[in-house]
Amino acid sequence: MNEKELRQALVHLPLQEVRFLPRVGSTNDIARELINQGGQGISLVYAEEQTAGRGRAGRQWLSQKGASLVFSLAIHSELVVPKPVSLISGLGAISVCFALEGLGMTPRVKWPNDILLAGRKVCGILQENLWQGDDLVGVALGFGLNLSSGSVPPAEQLDFPATSLEQASGSRVGEMELLKSILGAFLAPACGGSTIGILQAMEARLAYMGEWVEVWVAGETRILGQVRGLSEDGSLMLHSAEGAKIAVPFGEIHLRPVV
Ligand code: BTN
Repeated sequence: MNEKELRQALVHLPLQEVRFLPRVGSTNDIARELINQGGQGISLVYAEEQTAGRGRAGRQWLSQKGASLVFSLAIHSELVVPKPVSLISGLGAISVCFALEGLGMTPRVKWPNDILLAGRKVCGILQENLWQGDDLVGVALGFGLNLSSGSVPPAEQLDFPATSLEQASGSRVGEMELLKSILGAFLAPACGGSTIGILQAMEARLAYMGEWVEVWVAGETRILGQVRGLSEDGSLMLHSAEGAKIAVPFGEIHLRPVV
């Protein structure tokens, strides 16, 4: 894909600006710059290659030219609708799900916002909120999708099993088609983009529903429970072995199935 093709393919979408970068450290950094420059609406930062891609919890995010789809959205604050603001990444997650479902796949959301195919991670989302004092200035929302095996790190470098769209579906997925479809779903959300709409769409695709999981909050507290769904504020609802209801709020958490 080149810059002209990208702009032409996305011309019908309500994007303020489209940045095409052959190589960049992190698309989230450019999205943050766009937000800090002011302006309105939602802009796209697309890169063919990232040299310093980052994931959640300070992890590295590997992306290989031709094997990954990496992009960020610079979302100015007047558009950040769902409350809490962390649900913006939920909207991102279900937009990816809608796009993959359109290709005949069955994605699941590993709460809060990883996308799984057949139990393996195929997409990660990084939400970075920009504040000025107590005021939200905007959100840099970065998406990393593994298109083919070249973007999947070796197993020993992974803290959760990963796959690519090609490995999971058996066929090569068109990068442009996928990007268009994710952006279309995000910008005109089928779920309405409301807090309740996002939560219902996420819950309908929640991984490990009814299964036992372990959750670590802030790297420390380990919680064991059976997944029951999402609460009105987007917390993950678990039931302990004693039947107690546990709400795990959105945040820096690690979730693993109990095997
Ligand atoms: C995660 O699962 O840990 C989140 C991964 C997010 C990776 C994407 S790739 C595009 C954007 N730029 C980055 O540096 N990170 C995000």
